[in-house]
Amino acid sequence: MSHSAYAGAAAPVRHRAPSERADFTIVQDWAGYTADEHDIWRTLFRRQEALLKGRAAPEFLAGIADLGVAADGIPDFRRLNDVLGRATGWSIVAVPGLVPDAIFFEHLANRRFPSTCFIRRRDQLDYLEEPDVFHDIFGHVPMLVNPVFADYMQAYGQGGLKALGLGALHNLARLYWYTVEFGLIETPEGLRIYGSGIVSSKGESVYSVEDPRPNRLGFDLLRVMRTKYRIDDFQSSYFVIRGFDELFDATRPDFTPYYAELQRLGDYEPDTVLPSDRVLHRSSTA
Ligand code: PHE
Ligand code: CO
Repeated sequence: MSHSAYAGAAAPVRHRAPSERADFTIVQDWAGYTADEHDIWRTLFRRQEALLKGRAAPEFLAGIADLGVAADGIPDFRRLNDVLGRATGWSIVAVPGLVPDAIFFEHLANRRFPSTCFIRRRDQLDYLEEPDVFHDIFGHVPMLVNPVFADYMQAYGQGGLKALGLGALHNLARLYWYTVEFGLIETPEGLRIYGSGIVSSKGESVYSVEDPRPNRLGFDLLRVMRTKYRIDDFQSSYFVIRGFDELFDATRPDFTPYYAELQRLGDYEPDTVLPSDRVLHRSSTA
């Protein structure tokens, strides 16, 4: 689940009933999934599991291992929540699709992650324009098992509510995009993926860490919040953190003065490289 980033697209009607609740949540109706839908999940899961060995961050792989229930088919959120709740106090709530920004942030600020329930069709295994249950659960939940990342996501929700009030959501949304969705991390073994938009994508799992074309730039908070992003193709730049503590520490201060400064500073195109950027070579840390 993301916010304001994706345009709506055609998707199965089942599991997409609009919510009648003020917080936009629905009931997952786990018993209502067909055998074919569970099979699509398993196909995606096995494919990504194989691709992500040696490419995903150890924290992500540990999260997947902890969430053993997710290997058999589309997980029952109730069972997932037992594991997740014990680990970090987070829970998954079911929503029909994108929810308004304020609602999304309110959930995160309370350690609830809004997840879609529908799964893509078989002809959409490689690419889908909007988040489905595979992206939302396989992509996001493993990192929510990590205590530092779990706190980061909650802080992001609180910061989102504030940014909304300050008219700075476009800046904050870029931070989410380049970290939560498309973040890379440097490890002693080399570059690794932690962004959910990458780990749930077959093509980008390889492209982001191995292709010579995209820029891989050292994470810099204001730089990231000035950088536009593309939602219709692989990223042309990735921002690389040195560790989750770096991310958590950089985002701890009050952003209010940053937003005022960002209003004066211009935006960067997604493929810009600046003299001040720390440019990482694809194999520099391997
Ligand atoms: N510290 C940020 C603020 O004051 C909130 C935030 C935390 C935003 C973590 C993103 C990530 O707005
Ligand atoms: Co997402």
